[in-house]
Amino acid sequence: MVDPILDPESVARLRRMLLDWYDAHRRDLPWRGSRDPYAIWVSEIMLQQTRVAVVIEHYQNFLERFPSLPALALASEEDVLALWSGLGYYRRARMLHNAAQFVMEHQNGVLPSTAAELRLLPGIGGYTAAAIASIAYGERIGVVDGNVERVICRMQDWPAVGRAAGARLRRSIDTLVNQLVHPKRPGDFNQALMELGATLCTPRSPQCLACPVSVDCSTRGEHKTAPRRAMLSTEIGCALSVRSTAHAHSSQLEVLLEQRPASESVMPGMWQLPLLRDPHVPVGDVRMAVRHAIMQVNYYVRVRTVLAEDVDALTRPGGERRWVPQVEAASMALTGLARKILTRAHLLAPPVPRPSFKALQSNSSAGTASADPIG
Ligand code: ADE
Repeated sequence: MVDPILDPESVARLRRMLLDWYDAHRRDLPWRGSRDPYAIWVSEIMLQQTRVAVVIEHYQNFLERFPSLPALALASEEDVLALWSGLGYYRRARMLHNAAQFVMEHQNGVLPSTAAELRLLPGIGGYTAAAIASIAYGERIGVVDGNVERVICRMQDWPAVGRAAGARLRRSIDTLVNQLVHPKRPGDFNQALMELGATLCTPRSPQCLACPVSVDCSTRGEHKTAPRRAMLSTEIGCALSVRSTAHAHSSQLEVLLEQRPASESVMPGMWQLPLLRDPHVPVGDVRMAVRHAIMQVNYYVRVRTVLAEDVDALTRPGGERRWVPQVEAASMALTGLARKILTRAHLLAPPVPRPSFKALQSNSSAGTASADPIG
């Protein structure tokens, strides 16, 4: 593999074609147009390993609740996880929260403006630092995510980046993107390259006829993409246990939830449905069957209704359990699977609107300015 030497004319053409296409065809996404480094940071963390459609569902709620870095830093972790519920990869939320607290403590609440300084913050890697620096601050630095890797490898006819891809290939991609990045519009250029990979230069069916840079592409659809990693699969069973509690003039539904112990390596502290001892639920007892993917594992989940008095006999002992009023469940830090099952069972009432940080600030004489815990 040789490092490319790009003549200035083709670099200028590529930048122009890509940016013209981006200006005309970019998706109208809620974080586009913002130069607020905090908002861009949140969007970039959410977009890692998560589909755009899922991010859109969460981004605005998150920013309404935590509109600024101080607001996020002051929140409880449980509150942050509740707003992240459904996005998966919850470690990202914890890291974001910790980093916001670090910036409040050590940087006067202001995010640094260069990629080199941003990288020094806990939880901000090279990709996120370059994205924030180029999009929010206009630093001329390239951003390389999986989509960009694929676009560049196809354009250069370099081998597909797979698990075994060498550090040398990754370095070459990095070098090339840093040479190509538009000096005046680095943030737009980076987003255009990512957008191209996400929408046209897709892994399995690239739309080369619509591609703005196909004249500069060495492979035009012939390039082999690294095969997808095989998914593992496993079967589990979940208990859906609901009771009705009567009050003076009304009754309310409560659902039994279990908190994953803090010692769990995956999703500690999040709320799930109790797990059945036996995932092989007799067909007649299956309330619903759900497939749920977490990282490389497909979970085939059978959900059965369990009467309160049968819970101990049918479920595995886990973390702390709580009967949660239906109206509160939606605003808890539910696992994605719990949220999916409760939604399908029509048991998740829309969350009760809670005051945003701004509202709390303007109303601080009421004595409620601290981040409120859930429940
Ligand atoms: N993927 C991750 N961040 C992105 C962005 N800012 N624009 C397009 N695709 C992205």
